[in-house]
Amino acid sequence: MLSTDPSLQNSGHRYLPKIDNLENLPSPNQELLPLSAKVNRSDCLEIGGCDLSKLVEQFGSPLYVLDEFTLRIACRQYRDSFATYYSGESQIIYASKAWSCLAVCRIIDSEGLGFDVVSGGELYTTLKAGVKGDLSGAEALRDRIYFHGNNKSADELHLAIESGCTIIVDNWLELDMLAAMAARASQHPVPIMLRLTPGIECHTHEYIRTGHLDSKFGFDPSQIDTVFTYVSQQPALNCVGLHAHIGSQIFERQPHQDLAEVLVEWMKKAQEYGLPVKKLNVGGGLGIRYTEEDDPPAIAQWVEAVASAVEAACQHYQLPLPQLIAEPGRSLIGSACVTAYTIGSRKEIPDIRTYIAVDGGMSDNPRPITYQSLYRALVANRMSAPLSETVTVAGKHCESGDLLIKDALLPKTEPGDILVMLSTGAYNYSMASNYNRIGRPAAVVVNQGEANVILKRETYQDSIRQDRLPERLVNFP
Ligand SMILES: Cc1ncc(COP(=O)(O)O)c(C=O)c1O
Repeated sequence: MLSTDPSLQNSGHRYLPKIDNLENLPSPNQELLPLSAKVNRSDCLEIGGCDLSKLVEQFGSPLYVLDEFTLRIACRQYRDSFATYYSGESQIIYASKAWSCLAVCRIIDSEGLGFDVVSGGELYTTLKAGVKGDLSGAEALRDRIYFHGNNKSADELHLAIESGCTIIVDNWLELDMLAAMAARASQHPVPIMLRLTPGIECHTHEYIRTGHLDSKFGFDPSQIDTVFTYVSQQPALNCVGLHAHIGSQIFERQPHQDLAEVLVEWMKKAQEYGLPVKKLNVGGGLGIRYTEEDDPPAIAQWVEAVASAVEAACQHYQLPLPQLIAEPGRSLIGSACVTAYTIGSRKEIPDIRTYIAVDGGMSDNPRPITYQSLYRALVANRMSAPLSETVTVAGKHCESGDLLIKDALLPKTEPGDILVMLSTGAYNYSMASNYNRIGRPAAVVVNQGEANVILKRETYQDSIRQDRLPERLVNFP
């Protein structure tokens, strides 16, 4: 159900995607606004055919607004690009840590993608969303869901084995536990992949860099022979592939090409140990545009770079092409969503700064306070108003650092105006908290004028749902 509305052919506002041909849509990760964004006759921002100020009237704020069209286009661009640029088999799996909830999993499943999950909770959500192996039985769950994590619990490993997904083994403790559990499991051998640290540096924030040797994730490559020997002696484990991930929000292509080469070299070694390695997973990491200064490659350009590096390395080592897996999160969903806030109080400090406060903040978007991430915003109910002042957009939490955007260039705003933060689909809802007992916002998915709630707003009752008051405290003293 994708819109072919010619009014998508949009121009005018500085942040609107330039779309002149629906057959040749831009890469969503290169845009600041979702692809269906436009300005309507009332000078309001519309996404998926829904007026943002009306959405706030109906569903309240803060409100995550997810554009189904953009999400589906990103899925298709990944899929089509792999089909175009890679001669072997390929599979895209969604890194569900970017945003895990039933509706997002359903949309992505319906586009034929698989899933990367990192916890029992993410696996449970994916299964509850109805993700399963192909009905014909040709593709089992092990080829759709991949279970990651650097400290999986015994319960999580049991759940993973029982559900039949592939487990991406990260460390020795897990390998030992899994070998013992797999030997007792009714269905074995259990399919596994091994995560190794590739020793590749890339330019991104240190908290989201994972490929360098000093990382908590994956086996150290100096132990590769011992790991391969151990795994080759475990009849209950079937090591079908290798995995590495170098980090997130990366614009350079070279580190991913280097990674592809390293993985192919390891695949050759694994085969020397008799391991049936036929899958290589290059992780995710392609960045998105949060501000005008960000210039990520298009999805197709990234895929071409990775695919050609794998093919060249396989040719060099005279190996057949593996099934190539990529697990993007941010570049699939990040640009498909915006967050709408209502503007409240204002504080002007002469010659220093003007703050405008919104009705959310670090609890619905912890990225600025965690990574000093930059964002852009606009005033959705007056899209053509001149940009006349520079202000700092503050959240409502009890932290001075709870600032969503420093120095945002906006029209003069009034309390009640709708401020929309762009590119909030990835690592916003999924990292949200209840700090200050503020409930998590609602989320709606929009498409062709329809808006459906996919996450209910948390209420005061929700905030005490897990609280327990022991009897002896009730009547104390
Ligand atoms: C192992 C792994 N795979 C995939 C991803 C997704 O990365 P991104 O959202 O940057 O595509 C991450 C996130 O950092 C990750 O840790």
